[in-house]
Amino acid sequence: MKTIGMIYSDNDGLFVKSPFKRRYTYSSYKKFSEIGQRHGFKTVIARPEWYTNRKFSLCWNLLTSKIEKDIQVDFVLDRCISLSMKHHKFMKNLRKKIKKQLILMNDPYIENVCTDKYLTYRLFGNYLPKTFFSLKDLRKIKTGLVVLKPRFGSGGRGIQIREKGAIKKLKKDYLLQEFIDTSRGVKGLFPSVHDLRVLVLNGKIIDFYVRAPRKGLISNVHLGGRVVRVRGFIPKKVESIALKVDKKFSKFRPRLYSIDFLLDKGQKPFVTELNSQVGFDIYYQFKGQAKIYEKICESIISSIAGVV
Ligand SMILES: Nc1ncnc2c1ncn2[C@@H]1O[C@H](COP(=O)(O)OP(=O)(O)O)[C@@H](O)[C@H]1O
Ligand SMILES: [Mg+2]
Repeated sequence: MKTIGMIYSDNDGLFVKSPFKRRYTYSSYKKFSEIGQRHGFKTVIARPEWYTNRKFSLCWNLLTSKIEKDIQVDFVLDRCISLSMKHHKFMKNLRKKIKKQLILMNDPYIENVCTDKYLTYRLFGNYLPKTFFSLKDLRKIKTGLVVLKPRFGSGGRGIQIREKGAIKKLKKDYLLQEFIDTSRGVKGLFPSVHDLRVLVLNGKIIDFYVRAPRKGLISNVHLGGRVVRVRGFIPKKVESIALKVDKKFSKFRPRLYSIDFLLDKGQKPFVTELNSQVGFDIYYQFKGQAKIYEKICESIISSIAGVV
């Protein structure tokens, strides 16, 4: 039996005494393990620090609720979010090491593009709102509101939406971005301020949903935003951009990441960011999505079965 080794880090943590603090995280990873088992895989989950040379010194088996020692893994499914620069650097090195020893989802190249908004801009600038990295360029932004965001941020941390005239300085490793007014929603899908997230696995869109702020203009779930399951079709322009973006990664298999879109008042889609660490827990945090999540797990596990 082959073993899928997940490495996990997020603010929910993974501990020696118990796997997670939040029930949703636990439910989602346990479900993944169950589906893995149905497909002939053992699944274990570890802190990234517990990995060395194709092995986890410690890891949780969520089906037995037991911590295990010295487990050999055949594939690494990376579920690590870095909340500090130190961790980011540690992960960068670790991913390089793992890549020499095993196949991992995702290739470190994809991971770098997703975590660094400067690299995202370099590769996909055509599809992003106008973006600049120096205060000198502020005048090139024509919208009244400007978005300030950290180059290495996630979960909406550090994002500010400000009047252009009120911006007097730019912190190190921050970028300036034209504000996209999404208040008219996504035609046929959602009526107001949104982020449209498209989940891509090996070049196929396997899910899409809207994230909407409960108040204000920032949609991240970490900041109180909600996930809305929308019924209907993905706008053609969104689909076409998603596939163009994915082409840049086509040599890496398997690959799983999301592309977030904002649609302006004229329904023109802009890519805001790529995200390789899309939460599995959100499928349990918001009702009525368990079946969809099971299908997603099936697809991910099949994509792993194709390479180990
Ligand atoms: N250019 C923009 N125009 C309007 N809203 C934006 C813009 N950029 C980001 N936002 C809002 O802020 C949120 C977080 O921005 P994002 O670039 O995705 O950073 P993070 O990596 O922290 O999630 C987005 O989900 C969106 O709601
Ligand atoms: Mg985001």
